[in-house]
Amino acid sequence: MGFEDLIPAPRTGRRVRPPAPFVLDGRTALGAGPGTEGVARLLRDVLGAATGLPLPDGGADSGIVLRLDPALEREGYRLAVDNRAVRIDGGSAAGVFWGATTLRQLLGPEAFRRAPLDPGRRWEVPGVVVEDAPRFRWRGLLLDVARHFTPTDGVLRRLDQMAAHKLNVLHLHLTDDQGWRLEIGRHPALTAVGAWRPRTRFGHRASPLWEEKPHGGFYTRDDIREIVAYAAARHITVVPEIELPGHSQAAIAAYPGLGNTDAVDTASLRVWDDWGISPHVLAPTEATLRFYEEVFEEVLELFPSPFIHIGGDECPREQWRRSPAAQARLRELGLSGEDALQTWFVRHFDGWLAARGRRLVGWDEILEDGSGGPGGATALDGLTGGAVVSSWRGRAGGVAAARAGHDVVMCPEQQVYLDHRQHPGPHEPVPIGQVRTLEDVYRFEPVPPGLTEEQARHVLGAQAQVWTEVMEDQARVDYQLFPRLAAFAETVWSVLPAPGERDVADFERRMAAHYRRLDALGVAYRPPSGPLPWQRRPGVLGRPIEGAPPNV
Ligand code: ACM
Repeated sequence: MGFEDLIPAPRTGRRVRPPAPFVLDGRTALGAGPGTEGVARLLRDVLGAATGLPLPDGGADSGIVLRLDPALEREGYRLAVDNRAVRIDGGSAAGVFWGATTLRQLLGPEAFRRAPLDPGRRWEVPGVVVEDAPRFRWRGLLLDVARHFTPTDGVLRRLDQMAAHKLNVLHLHLTDDQGWRLEIGRHPALTAVGAWRPRTRFGHRASPLWEEKPHGGFYTRDDIREIVAYAAARHITVVPEIELPGHSQAAIAAYPGLGNTDAVDTASLRVWDDWGISPHVLAPTEATLRFYEEVFEEVLELFPSPFIHIGGDECPREQWRRSPAAQARLRELGLSGEDALQTWFVRHFDGWLAARGRRLVGWDEILEDGSGGPGGATALDGLTGGAVVSSWRGRAGGVAAARAGHDVVMCPEQQVYLDHRQHPGPHEPVPIGQVRTLEDVYRFEPVPPGLTEEQARHVLGAQAQVWTEVMEDQARVDYQLFPRLAAFAETVWSVLPAPGERDVADFERRMAAHYRRLDALGVAYRPPSGPLPWQRRPGVLGRPIEGAPPNV
């Protein structure tokens, strides 16, 4: 296996002539230059597990040698292999780590196993020089742990998969109408009550079936510390999302006073068992702001990420319209209408986070102007310069934000919502959304058209989303993510061969090798061809929902 099979594709790679493979054996040492010790520890762990070799500490002349080279791009690396040494130089420890990830791919798929298959096997790295660096700094995956909970070990497993694909931002969607998943010391009912729902609609929004058993779970603060540290060792930032002011039914079920108590009976509210957008939204009161400040104080203690996501999407205004208190609040604040209340929430936490050295991230609804400002004003005018937009309803939000000088992360549902079905056939398990094939995802271009070069620099990168309404376990999430996450990884890591150009045939050729890596990693991906298990054994999961609209 050579650099020709790498995914994501590196910037440049060439074979060393004459061929001079490096042989990894019981005497191979691993030398870590200053600043690369953490990468060495991890590489020794993963390669030691896969090969059974000890990889003792070594020097700078032979064996595997890791070093920082400040002349390289921050996340860039140079991997040079000959028959004496494997040298990985990186612009930072992250760069060295991505180089080490490439080394693992060069060793062959078995290098991704957790135990040696054959203790006597010969491990060889082909003689190559690879020079590489990512196209974007935000190479993200959103994992929705609210709709279906992923226990901590599942999140760690997801981080391993991300690292193997050189993805570096895990956006954890921690709260929603259907569950609150983060322990908050000062507000224990958020998880004691908000982390559990009595039953779940089984499958699709239009499904007539219910799973009549409780679902739930949450991360303790120690779980989060473990996840954050595990991610940091892999040079992945964990961005927490705490939704407000919409998608808040679980929080209101736990603390009814957070809701619009004069418009609806929140005392009898339960964590939502259905899918869609709940009408239950936060009341626009000072008490609500204080409560969420206390939540965010704990969030900031746990998550070192410079970016903190506050949601901001899909907030119905109906309860604010019906609530005398919300209406009075609106007048008191001199706001033009209910839309402005949403902007008011977002601005408050933007300033609050900025004062603590963090940057607010919100879904593109935060662009909608509820401020009643003069023509042309957008809600962004009231935000600090650091606020970032996650552009999900297409590309327009990203374009508007970048033009206004704000950083954006491109998450368009039309291309990178990986909960959407990946095949037009009727046999996808719970086939929701539009068809997004592996090739569709591979053709995704993160920078939207119509931006100047300067505006395009505000595109920090892109993010794949996996919303888990219809994914009750790890295998289902694997199936939705893979193989498409491999294609996505290439769209955010690899530079295009030429503007607008992707070589699909070459990607498909490299995927043949990559499926073997996914096998070794234990990923339950969608098989590339042949009948799916559901086609052989049709049942509830495989049947399209009668009468369902095509895009749900
Ligand atoms: C979203 O899909 N509501 C961000």
